[in-house]
Amino acid sequence: ERVITVGLCGFGVVGQGVFNHLQKRENDLSDQLGARVKVTRIAVRDTSKKRDFDFDAAMLTTDPLSIATDPAVDVVCELMGGTTLAKEVTLAALKAGKIVVSANKALICDHGEALFAAAKEGNGQLLFEASVAGGIPVIKAIKESLVVNRFNSIYGILNGTSNYILTRMTNEGAGYQEILAEAKALGYAEADESFDVDGIDAAHKAVVLAYLAYGRWVPYNDLLVQGIAEVTQADIAFAKENGYAIKLLAVIDVAHASGKLYISILPTLVSKKYVLGSVDGVFNAVSVHGDVVGETVYIGPGAGRDATASAVISDIVDAAKLIVNGGAGRFIDPAPRGGAKIELAEPEEIES
Ligand code: NAP
Ligand code: HSE
Repeated sequence: ERVITVGLCGFGVVGQGVFNHLQKRENDLSDQLGARVKVTRIAVRDTSKKRDFDFDAAMLTTDPLSIATDPAVDVVCELMGGTTLAKEVTLAALKAGKIVVSANKALICDHGEALFAAAKEGNGQLLFEASVAGGIPVIKAIKESLVVNRFNSIYGILNGTSNYILTRMTNEGAGYQEILAEAKALGYAEADESFDVDGIDAAHKAVVLAYLAYGRWVPYNDLLVQGIAEVTQADIAFAKENGYAIKLLAVIDVAHASGKLYISILPTLVSKKYVLGSVDGVFNAVSVHGDVVGETVYIGPGAGRDATASAVISDIVDAAKLIVNGGAGRFIDPAPRGGAKIELAEPEEIES
């Protein structure tokens, strides 16, 4: 039986989740694929750290680049976070013609253009289902299931940590700092939690969705971004009394006045009668308005070990299928809709 080898660069919340579920479902996946998917190498910062699952310590290295260029590794998973080493590792693997699976929205937002260019040049693939909305398969929905559509707009609750905080502030009147500490302990928050509460993480994800839907990389500095740090109990009480919830809402839209694409991330009053107004806790929701299908809404866990592992493994399995069926080594553009036609709004046009 053919073995598809996987190198995990990162063995923290997400990396260990991927390892655990790949191992538990190894036989099921082998039945589906006609090949066995096995983790063969793992990169970490600290090899002496205690991990949550048993594994062969001989797989460990502190050099993720050695995995990226290892001819014996078929699929490289970048699950470290950050944008410096993560970029080096991803570029090296793509240039070597490998399939890279990434959960790193900051990396794709900041360097997506260069990464996809490298993938095209090296005949590699970059798959990134877990980078937006955790376990919700929204990237595949936009890329594949809705392929015939052009998009009027995409709205979303794209950060699990901030939705978890807002929900608990609303339902229990719990204190902001205390809930943030819990979200960190549960593995929901970014290494730097200001990315979650300041709207930066949601902004990264919105840039990725906008690229898929409109084929344009919107520069991060063109976004209007405000997080949840200034939302008070008085704001929440006002929203509740009037039938609303406060949600950190990402809006990717084409402005009616100018016809130009813009992205904003803002704490927003959302009616409790609208489905997004009742999406609570660590759940995310994405409403995608296609011109052929109409509105479709995707809801599910937006962060956490198992939900994110589910999305990463879907990409690993896609990679394995490409390898087994001889489709690897051919770049596929994730955003073939031709973005040159849409202009980007200036920041002042968004604010008005
Ligand atoms: P994490 O728990 O902090 O794990 C990061 C892993 O990367 C750790 O195993 C760490 O090693 C390793 N690492 C970091 N720097 C390294 C270096 N220089 N060399 C070698 N290994 C290094 O982070 P995480 O929550 O799993 O997140 C990983 C990625 O997934 C991030 O891009 C994040 O944004 C994304 N993501 C996370 C979630 C979530 O719910 N947590 C959801 C979706 C996407 P040590 O263990 O030795 O420190
Ligand atoms: N910190 C992120 C969140 C992880 O809370 O949504 C999932 O991308």
